[in-house]
Amino acid sequence: MRLDRAAAMAGLTRSEAKKAVIAGRVTVDGAVVRDPAAQADPCRVQVDGAAVRSPGEIYIMLNKPAGVITATEDGRLPTVVDLIPPELRRRGPGPVGRLDRDVTGLVLLTTDGQLAHRLISPKWKAEKRYRARCEGRLTEADAEAFAAGIPLSDFTAQPAKLEILEAGDDFSLADVTLTEGKFHQVKRMFAAVGHPLAALCRLQIGPLTLDEALAPGEWRMLTDEEIEALKTQCKMSEE
Ligand code: URA
Repeated sequence: MRLDRAAAMAGLTRSEAKKAVIAGRVTVDGAVVRDPAAQADPCRVQVDGAAVRSPGEIYIMLNKPAGVITATEDGRLPTVVDLIPPELRRRGPGPVGRLDRDVTGLVLLTTDGQLAHRLISPKWKAEKRYRARCEGRLTEADAEAFAAGIPLSDFTAQPAKLEILEAGDDFSLADVTLTEGKFHQVKRMFAAVGHPLAALCRLQIGPLTLDEALAPGEWRMLTDEEIEALKTQCKMSEE
């Protein structure tokens, strides 16, 4: 990362950070570096003698409300990162995968790039579970279609598990579990079987389950056990 960007993690604006670098207030491994464009690991950068980022990764679980964008910044709308306090935001966590603006539920925010990559890469097959409310009565034929792999206009979805929780004439409720995460995929799969979605909420990413105590918009740090379970899922514990 550029040194001025790393220095900004101390709570400075980008232009204040640049000036601080040029003024010699910023060190990398204890040595003053005055080039704002120099590359530096933020864990090794200090501004006025204070570390900008504590060593170690951070892992945050967030219950995303509708209307919030899954991104680190957006010019117009609130993002998931806006929901965490500035001192955590400055450490640079990003969301793992994306939820659509109207979709709610579990978002994992982390600085751990390798874990993030593995959780979204189809290669590591981390399952994501969603609670879906859809129009019309779901039947076992729909569950069979999900299990067979639903053909969409540009690809055929990998087999997915559809667990019907309630089936009514107007609406049905189901849990769907899949390993892929293509654009609007769950919405498209339900629409393809004639049951457009009314609401979608992500409940689980691999072994990580949304904490029911978190109201929409609330977050908490992951426990050591949850972090370990995610790393085991992604075969990172053995490396
Ligand atoms: N599938 C969707 O259609 N939207 C999401 O946000 C996530 C999965």
